Amino acid sequence: MRLRSLMLAMAGASACLAAPATAERRDRPRRATTSACVSDAGVRARADALIARMTVAEKAGQLTQRFALPFNVKQIDQAVTGGNVGALLFVSDPKETNRLQRLALDTSRLKIPLLFGFDVVHGFRTIFPVPIGYAASWDPAMVERISAIAAAEARAAGVSWTFSPMIDVTRDPRWGRIVEGPGEDPFLASVMAAAQVRGFQGPCLGSPGRVIAGAKHFAGYGAAAGGRDYDEASIGDADLHNIYLPPFKAAVDAGAGNIMAAYMALNGVPASANRFLLQDVLRDRWGFKGFVVSDADAVKNLVTHGVAADPGEAARKALDAGIDMEMAIAVPAFDRLPDQLAAGTVSPARLDEAVRRILEAKIRMGLFEHPYVDEAAAAKLLGSPAHRVAARQAAERSAVLLRNEGNLLPLDQKAVKSLAVIGPLADSEVDTAGPAVFEQQMPRAITVASGLRALLGAGVRVDVIKGVSLPSRLNPSPFDMATGGSAKPPVGDEAAEIARAVAAARSADIAVLVLGEGQNMIGEQGSRSTLELPGRQRELLDAVVATGKPVVLLLMSARPLTIADTKAAAILDLWYPGSEGGAAAANLLFGRAAPAGRLPFTWPRDVGQVPLFYAHLKSHEPRNANNRYWNAPGSPAFPFGYGLSYSTFTYANPQVDRAAISPDDQVTISVDLTNTGARVADEVAQLYLGQRTGSAARPVRELKGFQRVTLRPGERRTLSFVLRPEDRRYWSAERQDWVQDAAEFDVAVGRDSSAGFGTSFKVMRTATPLATSQHE
Ligand code: NOJ
Repeated sequence: MRLRSLMLAMAGASACLAAPATAERRDRPRRATTSACVSDAGVRARADALIARMTVAEKAGQLTQRFALPFNVKQIDQAVTGGNVGALLFVSDPKETNRLQRLALDTSRLKIPLLFGFDVVHGFRTIFPVPIGYAASWDPAMVERISAIAAAEARAAGVSWTFSPMIDVTRDPRWGRIVEGPGEDPFLASVMAAAQVRGFQGPCLGSPGRVIAGAKHFAGYGAAAGGRDYDEASIGDADLHNIYLPPFKAAVDAGAGNIMAAYMALNGVPASANRFLLQDVLRDRWGFKGFVVSDADAVKNLVTHGVAADPGEAARKALDAGIDMEMAIAVPAFDRLPDQLAAGTVSPARLDEAVRRILEAKIRMGLFEHPYVDEAAAAKLLGSPAHRVAARQAAERSAVLLRNEGNLLPLDQKAVKSLAVIGPLADSEVDTAGPAVFEQQMPRAITVASGLRALLGAGVRVDVIKGVSLPSRLNPSPFDMATGGSAKPPVGDEAAEIARAVAAARSADIAVLVLGEGQNMIGEQGSRSTLELPGRQRELLDAVVATGKPVVLLLMSARPLTIADTKAAAILDLWYPGSEGGAAAANLLFGRAAPAGRLPFTWPRDVGQVPLFYAHLKSHEPRNANNRYWNAPGSPAFPFGYGLSYSTFTYANPQVDRAAISPDDQVTISVDLTNTGARVADEVAQLYLGQRTGSAARPVRELKGFQRVTLRPGERRTLSFVLRPEDRRYWSAERQDWVQDAAEFDVAVGRDSSAGFGTSFKVMRTATPLATSQHE
């Protein structure tokens, strides 16, 4: 990781549901069909024919992915010519992908094309909101669309593989990588995982204009101890199967061509040497057919984990466990595989199996037939106006309205004559784009200040004042060098600047504060021990609120910051909204778009409550559940699934079609939803299931369906949700199997996880135990 930062620094220095719940259900287990694609038999035969001609060194070469860095061009070129590298990462310029591909095809002995991988995390050239915002949209159809756009841009540049989606469930917002993931819930995470895989890959591996999806980080990274990046995760068997693994299963079922192993040790075994994860679960139970890559330098780091004595042993252990390709910053440990083979410690069959998986991916992606990209076509496509429109809509659809006292929002464009736009993030492009943006030719992001100016025109006075700077991190972010850090240059005299902000708020009709965390304060190596607004932002907020002017607080962050006690009248969470973030914010503030995002995590009042999540197990003294601390409330500031609207909705008449069913039956739940307000708006109807009794303690409730729907004022719609047997199953640690109990189930359909149960049904007898593979 450190070397990647170095690379980024050097590169930076030089260049810079509208779909119904039933559809969700159908989508989840769908395996991408290969019928429209190259046939399995043909692919395997071609790969085997190549393998038969390869030397051991060439085989080891295919199994390595190397960082192409500005300072190692010569070494990389030599490795390409020598057939000693199978894939590269961080090459994103079409000219350079073409040059390197030409080198591979013109000068290497077997003329095997290179695979170019890249972190296309929330867009390639066009930047969408961060993935936690994808989850907050509760809109898998949109997520699929924007993932397809990201894929098209990447592929046009020669990148044929993304290290995405990141689908690590986390219940600890101190962990910086919460920003890249789907939040706390396995059901929502699984839906988002499948949507991204479908968007990135299309109907099958090798669909034109698409890339290989690499689901990461397998598995359990989101449970890193204390939210400290890279530290171990100790996850009990039930939680592993019921919470952390399901999104990966969904990604595999959707056809993901690649899985990346995590950095940390899961229950004591580093993920890159974890045979239980990589073989037993991924291959044997789930039937995964793609290839597994290590995280950057994670194979060599088996030595730092203390489970290998040297890189040779690390290579052997990783290959044995199921790593097919090593991602390496400098010299790959897999370079030692020929020695290991000669010493008889590595099986030739296992080596060939890994090589076959890499070659098959290249064959399926059509790289042998179409190795080059059209640079002129790429220039047209990357960051195209149509893509920017999709980015704006995605930012609008992911924003979550947390407070709207007195219906302050939407603002009336005719009535507002002046705005004070305040805060260190109000006019910062790099922070608006957000973290995990690595493409070097980044187009400009529209900030909140510029978005408001553009929408309101010259007739409205917009004063922009930074107010305070964001503080520096105690340990510098590895990404600072590339991005120039956040919101620079710093404000000189902060007290004077706060006074300026206060004066501007006093003389404006409305104060819009844009506060949060700089993009360098989150993401990889972006963990924090607290959740308050960094630096003197809270002081700024309080001072502006004290003016008595109407205050709208816009948040840019991916963490639940401890701001709920502010007296600001309106709070809208934008996450990091991407290239068109400011345009989206302006539309939302002035009612040209209506917020309907919902929280993908529980928002604690205080960091001391972490981990806090809605699907906690039933326990002793349930009436006291929100009162477990004697010094503070235990309830959240905002529950999971929460979000307000510019309209109002009512839920009525919840019904189940059958009150008593057998374990194999499905049940349909319906509810009448009415838009009782005066505006067209989206509602996210959420279905939660609570099992009354079981053979294990069960969560108080679990999300099992949702639909994002648009209703006109006065419109009523009956929504239906189908619950299948698998929605009632769970992994029993005691029985080491999936079980479904004969039990009564309560059902809530409502606007968030605090909705009351409205109906119930009963499963009449215990299901005959299923073989694990049958369930999965
Ligand atoms: C390390 C990160 O953990 C991973 O998510 C990323 O894909 C690789 N580096 C490559 O940048």
